[in-house]
Amino acid sequence: MWIQHTSSKRYFAHNAIMLTIANISELRARLAAWRRQAASIALVPTMGNLHAGHMSLIEYARANATRVVVSIFVNPMQFDRAEDLAAYPRTLEEDCCQLRALDTDLAFIPTVDVLYPRGMENITRVEVPHLAYILEGASRPGHFAGVATIVTKLLTIVQPDMAVFGEKDYQQLLIVQRLVADLNLPGEIVGRPTVREPDGLAMSSRNGHLTAQERALAPGLHAALLDVGDHIRKGRSDYSWLERQAIHELQATGLRPDYVSTRRAYDLALPDAGDRDLVVLGAIWLGGTRLIDNIRLTLMDYR
Ligand code: PAF
Repeated sequence: MWIQHTSSKRYFAHNAIMLTIANISELRARLAAWRRQAASIALVPTMGNLHAGHMSLIEYARANATRVVVSIFVNPMQFDRAEDLAAYPRTLEEDCCQLRALDTDLAFIPTVDVLYPRGMENITRVEVPHLAYILEGASRPGHFAGVATIVTKLLTIVQPDMAVFGEKDYQQLLIVQRLVADLNLPGEIVGRPTVREPDGLAMSSRNGHLTAQERALAPGLHAALLDVGDHIRKGRSDYSWLERQAIHELQATGLRPDYVSTRRAYDLALPDAGDRDLVVLGAIWLGGTRLIDNIRLTLMDYR
């Protein structure tokens, strides 16, 4: 049953049954039918193992579009380590229950053959120079080419009015925004705030890999970023010194930091003295698990 919500002009589908589609032509036919009804379409791309961070993206999509499509695809092209791909948690049944509870209209759950029918070697891929080669890109060669390629494919297949991504993967979000601008893809790319556990740990599918001992240490990454941020807000601009200090402190608590880095928020360049919109990004290893996080800083001129 369709009900028009008079204040927002949104249409709510009550008791709608979520469609689950695995192939591209069926998906396109369904999307075309919705577009004929003048529906707006939001896409939330995921790799499944849905948690509260994903839920917040889907809730945003639900509140801002008439039709919500969630893709679940563990994209082999973006994994730089085979063991990481093999260990990636796959929880399809639970994911679909959660999607239904959030009133998702369509779950697109393709196989690898559907999205990479000619394999992944020697196919057209999307490179976003520079942005994809620093920070996470430097530590995980090829990772962002895999992300940019799959996101471009999903955006081209679904052609959503908006696609929603989490700010926890801040560098990924900027790369997606850049490729959409460079390739003139339609639709808006929306970034939504990181959802955290009560102790500050950013929600991530990888948190499930942590042992109890590692889980207890993991919020140290967020705490270290907040610490750097506090110093900068109080007027410090010796970013490299603050970052080195944060690395020492992380090491002292038993974490294995990869980087802590203060960057300009809009392009991840090293900040100039006048830059006010910054992001402090960090990555650590805990055993075999890599965690990333970031905090945004908007500096006031009266510091
Ligand atoms: O952030 C993720 O879960 C993935 O990188 C994405 C955007 C779904 C592409 O596979």
